[in-house]
Amino acid sequence: MVTKNDNELVALGKKTGEALRQQKNGPLVLALVGELGSGKTTFVRGLAKGLGIRARITSPTFVLAKRYRVPAIRNKKQETRNKQDTRYKKQETNRQYFWHMDAYRLKDGRDLAGIDFEEIVSDSANIVAIEWANKIKRAIPKGARWIRFFHLPGNRRKIIFSME
Ligand SMILES: Nc1ncnc2c1ncn2[C@@H]1O[C@H](COP(=O)(O)OP(=O)(O)OP(=O)(O)O)[C@@H](O)[C@H]1O
Ligand SMILES: [Mg+2]
Repeated sequence: MVTKNDNELVALGKKTGEALRQQKNGPLVLALVGELGSGKTTFVRGLAKGLGIRARITSPTFVLAKRYRVPAIRNKKQETRNKQDTRYKKQETNRQYFWHMDAYRLKDGRDLAGIDFEEIVSDSANIVAIEWANKIKRAIPKGARWIRFFHLPGNRRKIIFSME
């Protein structure tokens, strides 16, 4: 996939986020790899939009991880039915949190000791996007989706999706 500018990459992220929001089973980890400025954070901005998150996404380089709440998907039929039910409870999606992580400053997986990394990536309530995932490759769970970003001439970026 090739994008010509930021907006196209945000749009690609958004489409990906919309699709992931519907996916109900299993933990979801996106391992993002690419040089400085190749578009990882730009993609994550779109991803968050697609997940329905309104908050502004800023790079978590210094804090390692940021958590955002994923709003529930509105299901009109279900809501109407539930309103007649006295036990009415707002419908929640399976996915409750989006985690944006950045491993740029880490040397290896051992540096993750400070956060509950394993717990976060194995919880099916989470969608986790990790920039510079290659730095902590051994800590990335099997079944993660790897997304690679490459610079092309003229501000374009190439994005390759794969499973490893
Ligand atoms: N086609 C494009 N897609 C995305 N970004 C582009 C494109 N062309 C130019 N840019 C610019 O490239 C930069 C991409 O920055 P971004 O923060 O997304 O990269 P990054 O991979 O997260 O870098 P870092 O490793 O520093 O976190 C932005 O300044 C953006 O405006
Ligand atoms: Mg970034």
